[in-house]
Amino acid sequence: MSLRFVHVSDIHLLDLSGVRPWHYFNKRITGRVNLAIKRRRQHDERIFHRAVESGIALGAERLVVTGDLTNLSLPSEFAHVKARLETIGLPVTVIPGNHDAYTRGVVRADLFAKSFGAFMEGERAGAPYPFVQRFGDTALIGVSTAIASLPLYATGAVGTAHLERLDGVLEQLGDEGLARVVLLHHPPVAGVSKPRHDLLDLAKFGEVIARRGAELILHGHEHRTLETSLAGPAGEVPVHGIASGTSRSHRPQRQAAFSLYQVDRHRIHRELYTWNGTSFAAAHA
Ligand SMILES: [Fe+2]
Repeated sequence: MSLRFVHVSDIHLLDLSGVRPWHYFNKRITGRVNLAIKRRRQHDERIFHRAVESGIALGAERLVVTGDLTNLSLPSEFAHVKARLETIGLPVTVIPGNHDAYTRGVVRADLFAKSFGAFMEGERAGAPYPFVQRFGDTALIGVSTAIASLPLYATGAVGTAHLERLDGVLEQLGDEGLARVVLLHHPPVAGVSKPRHDLLDLAKFGEVIARRGAELILHGHEHRTLETSLAGPAGEVPVHGIASGTSRSHRPQRQAAFSLYQVDRHRIHRELYTWNGTSFAAAHA
C-alpha cells in the first residue's frame, strides 16, 4: 500500500478579526501585528487553495502542512485555518511552526492542539510529540519545534526528552520496515537558516538521524524550496524544504510551491510544482 500526498508549508493565513484594540497598544504584539499586515501583501490564500486543487487533480490522498499556518497565534486565526482545513477536500496532517506558538510570550501549544487535534491523531509515546500516523508501509512522524521566542527571533528546538522519544520511534518503525517520513518546521541542517531563525538543537537532531535513520525529512520555515540531506546509518537521508504555499513572489525558490510525494515502501518519488502567477506547473525537483 502506498501513500500519495501533497506537502505545503508556511501558509500564514491571516485573520485579524479577533484582535481587540488594546492589543495594538501592547508593545510586544504591535510589532507582530505590523509584520503580519506587511506579510499579508506577500501572501495570497487563494494560491494555497489552488495548490490543494492541483494536488487533488494529481491524485493526492492527503495534505501535509509543516507549520506556520497562522501569523500571530490568535484565536481568530486558528478558527479561520481550522474552518479552511476541515473543508479542504483532503485528509490533513499538520505540525506547528514558530508562528503558531506565540502570543504575549505564552506558548499556545494548547490552542494549536485544541484547534488541530484532529489533524494530529496518531500513536504517541506518552507525550503529544512525536505523533505517528501509519498508512500501510508509510509512517508520517510529526515533530514540534515550536517554542516561544523573543520578538524578532524565530528559533525553534525539539528538546531533549522529545528527541529521546523520536529516537525510540524511529528505531521501532525502522525495525518494522516502514518508510519513515519525519515532519518538522525548522530546517534541521546547519547553515540553512539565518541566525536567530534556526533550530537550536539541530546537532542533536542530526545525531538521532545518524543513529536511527529516516527515509525522508520534510520542513518549511525558510519560505524557500530547498534540497539538502543528513547523514543516516545507511547513507544520506533526503531533507526537502518547501516555499510558502501562499507566496506571491516570482523569485526562484521563493515562488509558492508544493511537492507531490508518492511513497511505495522503499521508493519515494517527488514531483515539485511551482506557482507561475496563474497556475501551478511541474518544475524540476
Ligand atoms: Fe517559521
